[in-house]
Amino acid sequence: MNNTSIPQIIQKKRDATILSPLELDRVVRGAVDGKIPDYQLSAFLMATYFTGMTFEETASLTRSMVESGESYDLSKVKGPKVDKHSTGGLGDKVSIILAPLAAACGLKVPMMAGRGLGHTGGTIDKLEAIPGFRVVLSKEEFTKILTEVGCAIISQSASIAPADRIFYSLRDVTATIECIPLITASILSKKIAEGANSLVMDIKVGNGAFLKKKTDALALAKTMRAVAKRSKMELRATLSNMDQPLGYAVGNALEIYECLEVLQNADFNPYSLSSTDLRELTIHLCAQMLEAGKVVRSLSEGRKLAIQKLQDGSAWKKFQEMVKAQGGDATTLSEPWRYMKADRIVEIQCKKKGYVSEMRSEDIGRLLIALGGGRNTVGQQIDHSVGFFFHKKLGAMVRAEDPLVTIFGNEKTDFAWVEDQIHSMIKITTTKKTTPKLILEANVK
Ligand code: URA
Repeated sequence: MNNTSIPQIIQKKRDATILSPLELDRVVRGAVDGKIPDYQLSAFLMATYFTGMTFEETASLTRSMVESGESYDLSKVKGPKVDKHSTGGLGDKVSIILAPLAAACGLKVPMMAGRGLGHTGGTIDKLEAIPGFRVVLSKEEFTKILTEVGCAIISQSASIAPADRIFYSLRDVTATIECIPLITASILSKKIAEGANSLVMDIKVGNGAFLKKKTDALALAKTMRAVAKRSKMELRATLSNMDQPLGYAVGNALEIYECLEVLQNADFNPYSLSSTDLRELTIHLCAQMLEAGKVVRSLSEGRKLAIQKLQDGSAWKKFQEMVKAQGGDATTLSEPWRYMKADRIVEIQCKKKGYVSEMRSEDIGRLLIALGGGRNTVGQQIDHSVGFFFHKKLGAMVRAEDPLVTIFGNEKTDFAWVEDQIHSMIKITTTKKTTPKLILEANVK
């Protein structure tokens, strides 16, 4: 019997006392039953933010959060089930290419993804730019598509880890997002409940990520591995740079368009500069998934297989199958301009010669929200058509009047203001700065 009262639990956490599994379970159950008011939950979250949790506490919290809802049993789906999750960044559209690519390589990919969060975009919002694409599937439909196609990308259903939704919405408004044990429990509770055997984490570091420092990203990777191990889930982690948008497109429909281009290995986009960082990170994460799922014995073997399946069109075919199975209008995939109908498109140019030395990614993400491409409030309608196409990325040499960014706006867009904002967010200097490495740690031990 657990008799500790909620104020006592908060006090213990405030004073950095280790909480027992029963005490943590009491908080989780009280949150889901609605018996603990938001002010006490917020105090508990803030105490955790300041004093942290041990691996054991984080594992207990995760377990209680899994048990707060339903778990999917995917044991009838044959084959290794491996998912990938990113901590979030700007222009991060990897999952949309990766799920069909990994499925084409022989994995089953049960992917439960999120909507935009803060300044970062969300896979689910991006997929909804494809007319008809359904992100809410019943457990039966999800299992059927996973069995027949090999991958499905859905949003978190109401029954999965409901405690996470409650904690998350409070964290979003109480400045407690950037907390390693809370991030760990939030992500792993959903992933364990979803039924994957293994998980590859892409932990973003940089000015467009939630974690700005590599040391914090490494600490998150270590905590996640320790907690996943206690739940018999294999976890691998990559640390990747987020000091600039990933790829060239930011904005929901534009990002789908860029994914189509990578999936089709085609340069049919007049703006294309061939998204090498996006392709490279996707291939690396696919290799990690294939190694985790024991389809290959090494990362290099995994890379070879991923490149082959991208080049021979198998990943593109899988993507089309997934879109069809999830109700999407596959005809739009061959004519992407038909659904990427931004009302007004304006190209802005560099003001001077030099090198691109800084791109303030978090601010660019907030600018997209101001254009209507993301949310400021829960449930806000978004305009999938707005976004930015970056002609230049970090390290690029530019001359005055070179194209810098194309703005895709709508009738409400104040282009002059957006242009000023863009110029203040992209720094051009006379000397070239070292461009950050894309993959900072290929496999965190
Ligand atoms: N993504 C999640 O699902 N949870 C977090 O806490 C952070 C990123």
